[in-house]
Parts: sequence; structure tokens; C-alpha cells
Amino acid sequence: MTTSSPEGVGLGMPQLPPPPYPDDVRARLEADAREVISRYPDSRSALLPLLHLVQSEEGHVTRTGMRFCADMLDLTTAEVTAVATFYSMYRRKPSGDYQVGVCTNTLCAVMGGDAIFEALQEHLGVGNGETTDDGKVTLEHIECNAACDFAPVVMVNWEFFDNQTPGSAKRLVDDLRSGAQVEPTRGAPLCTFKETARILAGFPDERAGAVEASGGAGPASLIGLRLAKGEAPPARVVHPRAGGPEGTQPHEPSPSEHLSSHDAPQKTSASDPAHPAGPTAEEGE
Ligand code: FES
Repeated sequence: MTTSSPEGVGLGMPQLPPPPYPDDVRARLEADAREVISRYPDSRSALLPLLHLVQSEEGHVTRTGMRFCADMLDLTTAEVTAVATFYSMYRRKPSGDYQVGVCTNTLCAVMGGDAIFEALQEHLGVGNGETTDDGKVTLEHIECNAACDFAPVVMVNWEFFDNQTPGSAKRLVDDLRSGAQVEPTRGAPLCTFKETARILAGFPDERAGAVEASGGAGPASLIGLRLAKGEAPPARVVHPRAGGPEGTQPHEPSPSEHLSSHDAPQKTSASDPAHPAGPTAEEGE
């Protein structure tokens, strides 16, 4: 192994072995790792949870943590490094107690995700992947978290904060930094990044109400499901932040009125025998 510059370019210098964990930490992690490994018929299948385990110890995956995983699973450090650097849920440098991820995939971006990310960068004075000076918040772009119904979405340590605005997102990070109580929009209560990593490693979720909490599909997804089942078109969904002029009622679509041209199954020649498609043209016709 060779040392690398910040850009990841090898400099040709041999790299010293990573420092070992202190004996007491190693003994504790070994006991936890053995419990995780026992759940899998093939020990190497435990690599992902073990990476979460070492991340729960130090807040990111260190070379010491990767060496530990390799030792426990009889893998090479190269194999462990390849996995740890592939998945974005593993951090490679020290980070904050709260990972604030702003979804900037297409739907969230057009619904305000880009504006939220810009506002938070300016408000916190950090860029993508950077941590505030107090060590509380790490800001980053995240990919779609399958919560598009609630766009734009911000996630804190993988808990959902739905339908955000630049203003609500700034209040959120202020509360996180001040230690104020913060409640996700749905799902389990918030905990620190290290605690989240331990849960992801497969250890019991001790948070009150966490097991009962759930994050079901949102109204937009359920409309699609109902239409697919052939049920009547539902009432128009109104975005939580979108209110009509005071005193006006939301528009109720007529039975023939769809939310958009994509909101209902369209007839095809297979489902509409009265209007069959013409014969397919042969090549050369
Ligand atoms: S695009 Fe943001 S959750 Fe899907």
C-alpha cells in the first residue's frame, strides 16, 4: 500500500500499518463482531455490518477499522477498502454528530432541494462533505431516498425531514447545533450518527417508539396504487405548503379530469379492442 495525496494519487511511499485499537476497545468490538458474523453462513457476508460497527466506534471508517474488519473476516485490507470506498454510507473522514443530507436528485432539486442546499452552505459556511467548526453538522448532497412524495427531502442521520424549505432547513440545523429537541417528520426518533451506525450494524434499536414508528408511502404514491387497481380517481392532492387564497376550497377534479396526462392508465390497443392498432409495417414497407 502507498500513501495518497488528498486527490487519491499514489505517491509511491510505503504506508505505515494503521495503529491498533486500544485493547479494551478491540475486545469489545471483537465480541460485537463475533455476534454479527454468527448470523451469516459465510463470514465475509458480514462485511457491510462490520463496517457500520467500526463506524459506530469512531464516527467514520478508519484504516484501523478496515484492518479490524479484514482480521475478523479473513479478508485482505484491499478487499475491505474496495467495499468501504464503494458505498456512500461509509464516511472516510471525521464528520459531525449529525449528517444533514439534502436530496438534490431531479424531483427534489426542482421542488427546492438545490435552493435548500445553497441556503445551508451559506448559512453553515461549509461546502459539500464539510463539517461545521463545532463538529455538530456535516452537510452533503444525497441521492434519491425514495421519499419523492415528500420532496424536497432532507435527511438527518437517515431520518426523514419532509417538505422542507430553505427557511425550515436553516431552523433545523440551528436546532441541531444548539442541542434543541428535533423530531423527524415520520419514522424513528433522531439519534447521533454513531448510534445510527450501531443500529445499522444490526444491534437492537433502543429508541423509544422506534420499532412502532414507520414511514409509509405518501399520498402521491397511494394515488398511483389506487389508479392501478382501477379505483376511482381520488381528490387532488394539495402540497402541504400550497394553500389557495384564504377562504377558497381546493379544486375537486371532475370524474373525467385527471391530475395530469400520466395519472391514469391509458388505453392501449390491447385494452381497447374498439380501436385496434394497425398492422405493424414489415421491414422495407
Ligand atoms: S428525488 Fe429526492 S427523495 Fe426522490
